[in-house]
Amino acid sequence: MYTGLLSLHSLLRWAIIILLIVNISRSLLHKNVYSPQDRSWNLRLVIITHITLLVGLYQYFFGPKGIALVKAFGMKSVMKDPTLRFWVIEHLTGMIIAIVLITISSSFSKATFESDAKKHKKLFWLYTIALFVIIASVPWPFRFAEIPWFRGF
Ligand code: HEM
Repeated sequence: MYTGLLSLHSLLRWAIIILLIVNISRSLLHKNVYSPQDRSWNLRLVIITHITLLVGLYQYFFGPKGIALVKAFGMKSVMKDPTLRFWVIEHLTGMIIAIVLITISSSFSKATFESDAKKHKKLFWLYTIALFVIIASVPWPFRFAEIPWFRGF
């Protein structure tokens, strides 16, 4: 089961990146009208991101690359080693920040007190910052040799 969840977590990263690019493009193209389609693309992004969060939390607490590393090496050694620190602190922190931004985007997309143009502008920035934070926090294969671009189920 763990391997399946790991593959899912790995695959959903691509879905999130694609959905962020779609949402960013829609904010740029439909500047003045926030349509129900814009709302449903936001919803797709929020749902997929929260599924990734749940799988990630499971991996963090029950897999080999989260709390298990703190138990095995102690927090002091974890903080001194860049790879261990990435898995215990950096991946988690970066992704939680991105997920908070995406969750805030959902409230903005529902807001009725703002003009559509303002809504698109705010959403554009939330999506763009979230995309950069995610790209910076993903364990890419050029940084971690054991991590593939696509993991099979
Ligand atoms: C937008 C959210 C996230 C994205 C895009 C993402 C992406 C990834 C990717 C691409 C991997 C490598 C998978 C592989 O080995 O093929 C990974 C691993 C991992 N992620 Fe995330 N992640 C996200 C959120 C989280 C969160 C919030 C947590 C913790 C609470 C987390 C915990 C982990 C752990 C522990 C691993 C290593 C699993 C293992 O090798 O056993 N992730 N993540």
